[in-house]
Amino acid sequence: MDKKNDVVLCGTFIHATNTESAVILNDKCIGVKDGKIEFIDDISLVEKNLKQHNMEGTKIIKMTERQFMIPGFIDTHIHAPQYPNAGKGLDKGLLEWLETYTFPVESKFKDLKYAASAYRKAVNRVLCNGTTTACYYATIDTDATLLLCDIINDLGQRALVGKVNMNINSPDYYVEASVEESINETRRYIEAVKSRKYTTIQPIITPRFAIACCKTLMKKLGDLAEEHNLPIQTHLCETKDEVSFVNKLFPDYDSYADVYDKTGLLTEKTVLAHCVHLTQPEIDLIKNRKCGVSHCPNSNLSLRSGLLDARNLLQQDIKMGLGTDVSGGYHPSILDAMRVTLHVSNTQSLLKQNGYTPLNMKEAFSLATLGGAKVLSMEDVLGNFEVGKYFDALLIDPCSEHSVLDIFDDDIANDCFEKFMFTGDDRNISRIFIGGKEVHNPVDVFSVQST
Ligand code: GUN
Ligand code: ZN
Repeated sequence: MDKKNDVVLCGTFIHATNTESAVILNDKCIGVKDGKIEFIDDISLVEKNLKQHNMEGTKIIKMTERQFMIPGFIDTHIHAPQYPNAGKGLDKGLLEWLETYTFPVESKFKDLKYAASAYRKAVNRVLCNGTTTACYYATIDTDATLLLCDIINDLGQRALVGKVNMNINSPDYYVEASVEESINETRRYIEAVKSRKYTTIQPIITPRFAIACCKTLMKKLGDLAEEHNLPIQTHLCETKDEVSFVNKLFPDYDSYADVYDKTGLLTEKTVLAHCVHLTQPEIDLIKNRKCGVSHCPNSNLSLRSGLLDARNLLQQDIKMGLGTDVSGGYHPSILDAMRVTLHVSNTQSLLKQNGYTPLNMKEAFSLATLGGAKVLSMEDVLGNFEVGKYFDALLIDPCSEHSVLDIFDDDIANDCFEKFMFTGDDRNISRIFIGGKEVHNPVDVFSVQST
């Protein structure tokens, strides 16, 4: 095994566990061997651990007083080819927005030169904002989607990447010609990803949504996911107009979620984006199927889709993570997703008033890390600092050279953590580790050529 990425980190660590949303571990050391956490112990026992774990001579990184480490952020829903549109064209509701802005930009990615440049910018930006694992939608174009995988691999990010399927109710210039073509291309995509033997990237089956996929296509995609034991991602109940359209297209089904269920798309490895307008029977259904929900609050406000009642779903034990949903959401950072999660939850509490407990920042942090790992069915290997998990982590420096947040003498570790969550940004993310490997110096981002 290559030992060059083995490392020991010493200082303060903050993470979520199954019982607590944010635990602060002061004066600890974490040993990383072969990309995974080998030991966690008190800082005073570092030498003993190095000996015990056969890691003598390993590089040691000591954090300064105000620095701390958190698990890397997990973005459970993001459209890489929509990044060129991030921050523009948010003046329409979902269906009109898709036609006016989204399908046109996605269609450009069949030009591989355009795709190479735009995808590199997108992944770079997402990574420098601390997203160590992203669940990406690409486009319908297989070769461009493979190019996205190559770029993610090159930059060292962990990702699920989906070639999008859509064969109906789509513009002539951006649609797959038949079920057969859509399935053949998806098979080609899966085989190509497998043959490239990436260490951090896996394919995910990606029917765009029930409006853009016929029943046969959805069924065949469900079969394909089963055949290859793959995760699935799609959109569900994002806006009221969308739900009405689906009900019209599929009058023989009990609900929007039932369409996915009857076509075999609801599995314990399914990531359902939005879920703002679920009925109680739909909540029961996705709970029974153990699907995860990607909560994308920035997008839900920007496209005026609705306010998800995250507390309600969490109380019913639905798995939940956060998504930026670029470019329905305009911000590529999960820090933003956490903040807007709280705004939406606070708004719910204002609307519902009595007895409603809005989410707090620690819960939002848990959703952004361990919650995301659960939604992506990766909680055995990701999401927090437990022995045996991959060391995917961010070194946060609240006092970094270009920081725009201020720390005061009497600020304790929890204050620094909260200030970073509410007012920090990528300038406070000093180092990024994925599978123990330091993958990115954010400074590099500023020298990315705008070709
Ligand atoms: N529903 C179907 N496609 C999309 C998309 O690209 N973005 C969002 N927000 N919703 C969708
Ligand atoms: Zn989306």
